[in-house]
Amino acid sequence: MADLQLLKVDLGDRSYPIVIGRGLLHSGFDILPYLSHGDCLIVSNETVAPLYLERVAALAKDRNVHSLELPDGESFKTLEAVQTVIDELVRIGARRDATVIALGGGVVGDIAGFAASCYMRGISYIQVPTTLLAQVDSSVGGKTGVNHTGGKNLIGAFYQPQLVLIDTDTLSTLPEREFSAGMAEVIKHGAIADAEFFGWLEKNMQQLLKRNVDSLVTAIHRCCEIKALVVAEDERETGRRALLNFGHTFGHAIENSLGYGEWLHGEAVAVGMLMAAKLGGLKKADQDRLKQLIEAAGLPGEPPPIGAERMRQAMQLDKKASSGTLKFVLLRALGDAFTTTEYSDSLLSEILQSADGKRD
Ligand code: NAD
Ligand code: GLY
Repeated sequence: MADLQLLKVDLGDRSYPIVIGRGLLHSGFDILPYLSHGDCLIVSNETVAPLYLERVAALAKDRNVHSLELPDGESFKTLEAVQTVIDELVRIGARRDATVIALGGGVVGDIAGFAASCYMRGISYIQVPTTLLAQVDSSVGGKTGVNHTGGKNLIGAFYQPQLVLIDTDTLSTLPEREFSAGMAEVIKHGAIADAEFFGWLEKNMQQLLKRNVDSLVTAIHRCCEIKALVVAEDERETGRRALLNFGHTFGHAIENSLGYGEWLHGEAVAVGMLMAAKLGGLKKADQDRLKQLIEAAGLPGEPPPIGAERMRQAMQLDKKASSGTLKFVLLRALGDAFTTTEYSDSLLSEILQSADGKRD
C-alpha cells in the first residue's frame, strides 16, 4: 500500500475522509467501504477516462461498474450534462443504493456531484480529483453544480461526498497551464489562512512546478486541511467560508469580461488576489511577495486590457448576487483575511485602471 495521508471533513454524520497519496489508484486502495451496495457509475470525460478510468473501475471491482464519458470543457458544465448522467443512471437501472464516482477535474466533479444530489433525491458519490485545482479546492466541501447562461455555478447544491481520493500521480499528465492555474488556489490558501505555509510556498515553488511528489503532497495536504476546517465551521457559506473566495470578485469579472475559457479560472483569480490585496491596503512589501509568488508559479501578474468600465460592470453581477452590495475578501496581513462591504471606491477605480492597460 502506498504512503497515504488522511484528513477528515468533520460534519457530524456527514463527515468523510480525504485520502492523499502517491499511486493510490495503482495501490488497490480499498474504496469499497465508501460505496453503497448497488451499481457504481464512474463519470469522467473524454480526456481523463483513457488515462485513469480502468484503474478506478478496478478499485470498485466488487460492484456492478458502469462508466460514462462526458465531453471535455467548462462549456459543457450545463444542466444538459447533468441530464446525461441521470439518463445513464436510469438506463443502468440504478437505485438509491447506487454510487457515482467523479473522476476528473472540477468540471466533472461539479456535474457528477450535482447529478448524485438529484438522482432519487440523493445517492452516494465519491470524488477522485485529477487536477491540482480539484485536489486542493473543488473536490472538498460539497459545492456541486453547473452553469446557466445567466451566470456561472447558478444551479447547484451543497452535497457532501463519501470520500475524496487524491492520487498525486494523476498530476503527472496535467498540462502545465492547468497545473499553474491550480497553483493559484494553493497560493490563495496560504494568503488567507497561513502565513507560514505562504513562506513555505515561496521556498518550494520550483520543486512544486517540477511536480516533486513530496512537495506536492505537503501542499495539497495543507490546502485540504485549511479547507476542511473552514467547511466544518461554515458548510453553507454564511460566514467564514466566503474567505475562500479571495480574489474571486475581481477574478470572476475578468473571466466574465473576456468570455469563459479565454483565461483559466486560476489565472483570473491570481490577478484578482493582487487587486484585492491592493484594495485592502496590504503593506507594499507583502503585495510584492504575493506578486512574485504568483509570477513564479507561471501565472499572470497583470490583468488583461479589458477596460476599467467593463470590469466594474462585470463586478456588478457579483453585487446582484449578494443583495446589492459588493463584498470583498481582503487581507489584514498575509495569512489573515476578512470580508467587508466597506472599501474605498476611489482606490477601487484606481485599481481597475490597471485593466485599461495602464501600469502604476
Ligand atoms: P477542468 O475540470 O476543466 O480540468 C481542466 C482540464 O484538465 C480539462 O481539459 C480536463 O479534461 C483536464 N484534465 C483533468 N485531469 C487531468 C489529468 N490528470 N491529466 C490530463 N488532463 C487532465 O478544470 P478544473 O480547473 O479542474 O476545475 C474548474 C472547475 O471547477 C470550474 O467549473 C469551477 O467553477 C469549479 N470549481 C468548483 C469548486 C467547488 O467548490 N465545487 C471550487 C473551485 C472551482
Ligand atoms: N471554492 C470555494 C468554496 O468551496 O467555498
